[in-house]
Amino acid sequence: MFEELSTPAFVVDRAIVRRNCERMRARLNPPTRLRPHVKTHKTLEGARLQLGAETGPITVSTLAEAEFFADGGFRDITWAVPIAPSKIGRAATLATRIDRLNLLVDHVDSVDALDAFASSSSTGFDVFLKVDCGTHRAGVDPESAASIALVERIVASPHLRFRGLLTHAGHSYDVDSVEAIREIAAEEAACLTRFAGKLQVAGIGVETRSIGSTPTCSVVERLPGVEEARPGNYVFFDAVQTGLGSCTLEDCAASVIVSVIGHYPERAAIVTDGGALALSKDGGARHPGREPEYGVVCDLAGTPIPGLHLRGLSQEHGQIAVDAGVEIERFAIGARLRVIPNHSCLTAALFDRYTVVEGAEVVGEWKPARGW
Ligand SMILES: Cc1ncc(COP(=O)(O)O)c(C=O)c1O
Repeated sequence: MFEELSTPAFVVDRAIVRRNCERMRARLNPPTRLRPHVKTHKTLEGARLQLGAETGPITVSTLAEAEFFADGGFRDITWAVPIAPSKIGRAATLATRIDRLNLLVDHVDSVDALDAFASSSSTGFDVFLKVDCGTHRAGVDPESAASIALVERIVASPHLRFRGLLTHAGHSYDVDSVEAIREIAAEEAACLTRFAGKLQVAGIGVETRSIGSTPTCSVVERLPGVEEARPGNYVFFDAVQTGLGSCTLEDCAASVIVSVIGHYPERAAIVTDGGALALSKDGGARHPGREPEYGVVCDLAGTPIPGLHLRGLSQEHGQIAVDAGVEIERFAIGARLRVIPNHSCLTAALFDRYTVVEGAEVVGEWKPARGW
């Protein structure tokens, strides 16, 4: 079956996705509810497997995703990226079509823009404050008085409904032990709880504290004081997550089938048609003293082939170095390989359709949302 696909092809093993989703649902205990992030796969089918239901609360990363999922029957959506003022009109239109569209802000100018739009169009917006609990990508400083003033500004608006605090422990990707990831998870929850306590003193209640990343949610037993978790990558997992200890290689549900298009025994190299536009160019986990590799090269059954190293990616070429002692003739022109990507979210985003399999059998095709 893998022999017939036009390469490079993005393949999703649905049985593994189902198992990953069931495990994540079983991990999270009340009062923590799951609001899975769907940005990894961006498909209706994937979201339903995450929820174990036809519909339910989800998290998205683009407005186009939010619209796509609304069209697919999802009525409770958090768009977990701070809104650009130019998108407020589109967001307002979408908000009228579903039960809840939560928007994210971390700056007074965004709050003012939402307030101004809402007052001139007699609409209202549900708003989360993005909090920086250590990643330093986006979000307000929970220790700063200005952050409390920003929430007071949201609460003072008759057009904005303050729904809670949201953070994402992106820095859980930068540490090198499960113990360190557990510490980040505990600090992420504690950070929101401390901030919620300060808001309480200022007379502001926090309905929802929302956290979530795949590394933290994969290794903690409890998320004390957290009402909502938003992991997403666990649906597919990938080579980076195996390095972090979130999963094993057998849990990786997404791979790219590639064909050998260049064969160079004299310099122990082969080239495939899986370049950067088929795999993305995420360098993966850092291994001090070792050259980066752009994925795990496997046979078509998904078993890693020792001695094959995907060391170079250009637009349409994947360069594989072959160790001495490996029989390079096995990888003749036209031979096929299966690559587990470093970062499945970025890799999936390069394909307009996914071939869905269970083991060696094709069971369908998923079409993801695209664009912004
Ligand atoms: C705001 C937000 N929430 C949740 C997630 C999901 O995290 P992960 O991809 O580790 O599952 C992300 C991922 O980037 C995110 O940006």
